[in-house]
Amino acid sequence: MNAETDRASYVTRLLEDLGSIGVERGGGITRLLYSESWRQAQAFLADVMAEAGLEVRFDRVGNLFGRLEGTSPDAPVILTGSHVDTVRSGGKYDGAYGIAASLSAVLSLKERYGKPKRSLEVVSFCEEEGSRFPLAYWGSGSVSGILSPELADTAEDPDGVLLGDAMKEAGFGREDQPDPRRRDIGAFLEVHVEQGVILERTGERVGIVETIAGQRRYILTVEGEANHAGTTPMSMRQDALAAAAEMIQMLEKAAVRAGEPLVATVGRMKIAPNIPNVIPGTVEFTLDIRHLSETLLTGFCEAVLGKCRSIAVRRGLALRVQTALQSRPVPMDPLLTGRLERICRERGLAYRRMMSGAGHDAQSFSSLCPTAMLFVPSRAGISHSPEEYTAPEHLETGLDILTEMLHELAYEDPL
Ligand code: GLV
Ligand code: MN
Ligand code: MN
Repeated sequence: MNAETDRASYVTRLLEDLGSIGVERGGGITRLLYSESWRQAQAFLADVMAEAGLEVRFDRVGNLFGRLEGTSPDAPVILTGSHVDTVRSGGKYDGAYGIAASLSAVLSLKERYGKPKRSLEVVSFCEEEGSRFPLAYWGSGSVSGILSPELADTAEDPDGVLLGDAMKEAGFGREDQPDPRRRDIGAFLEVHVEQGVILERTGERVGIVETIAGQRRYILTVEGEANHAGTTPMSMRQDALAAAAEMIQMLEKAAVRAGEPLVATVGRMKIAPNIPNVIPGTVEFTLDIRHLSETLLTGFCEAVLGKCRSIAVRRGLALRVQTALQSRPVPMDPLLTGRLERICRERGLAYRRMMSGAGHDAQSFSSLCPTAMLFVPSRAGISHSPEEYTAPEHLETGLDILTEMLHELAYEDPL
């Protein structure tokens, strides 16, 4: 077996091992922030990093770092990695691939070239998905400082557990643990599966991200009146679900009218009391809206939320809107992006510059340091699903480009 095959099979093995943590009966993987499976996954990765000879450190929010110290330890760090958490019933590659590829790349550089000039760190961020608490990027956002530590005292999961309490329960959140905020990062690189179908359709091997779409997430609560389904005439109802259905219809039509790349999704709904012979009294649903332009995104959100309010008023219902996430479109660093492009050209790889409709940890860093992001194809574009799959040859391509980029940044570039 040659060294390239070794490095690639290290990635597939690590993905298998990590992918066995948090597996559910239906085959999906669930590692929600600070849950038991999440703890197991971070502990497993900490062991892997320590065995590989990296200096291992957790910060106060549970981000895990493996450091290969450079010969100039005070020079800004080159950071690479992704997130360990998953959506409910997610796949093996989202987040995990970025961690596995980063580890493999750093270890092979260590083997081949020894100590870098600039320290290299692999990171397994504690949370990116927003699957448990009404916030996302808790890991990378705490490192870059775009999220405030005070959120730990306010954000609650659907069971009413406070973020700060969940963090303490998992062994974090103590003052004696390192502050997550970093000011010593010189560059951040993330490799990720595309989670869309473009690369597979075009046959291109690599996607170089130019911009990550801006995103809004809202929780809408419609308050009507629960009442008897048999005795309440249609003209005398305050049906929260019928109102929510009208809002969702309106949202879909408005999103289609707005055109690409705008996308709008209602992904979760809770109906109370959720009984066949009772008119729904309360409905809560989420709204996720994304676009490349901040102006168009803001305009669209204001317009559709206004229409939701009008629907509620016309039906005599109350509507509460809670903002759960607000992120602007984020450009990647043009110089790093250009370097990725050059590396692809040197290797004769078909690539495309593209936007990311998905949110990523990379977006937390672009205001802090030069940041770049690379995609490899996803089979049938499927992600956030147990069906998520990327062929080993594509995993290897991403690994190869990441390794070259880290080599240039940490070993070759003048200090
Ligand atoms: C995260 O994966 C998102 O884009 O929702
Ligand atoms: Mn991800
Ligand atoms: Mn995801």
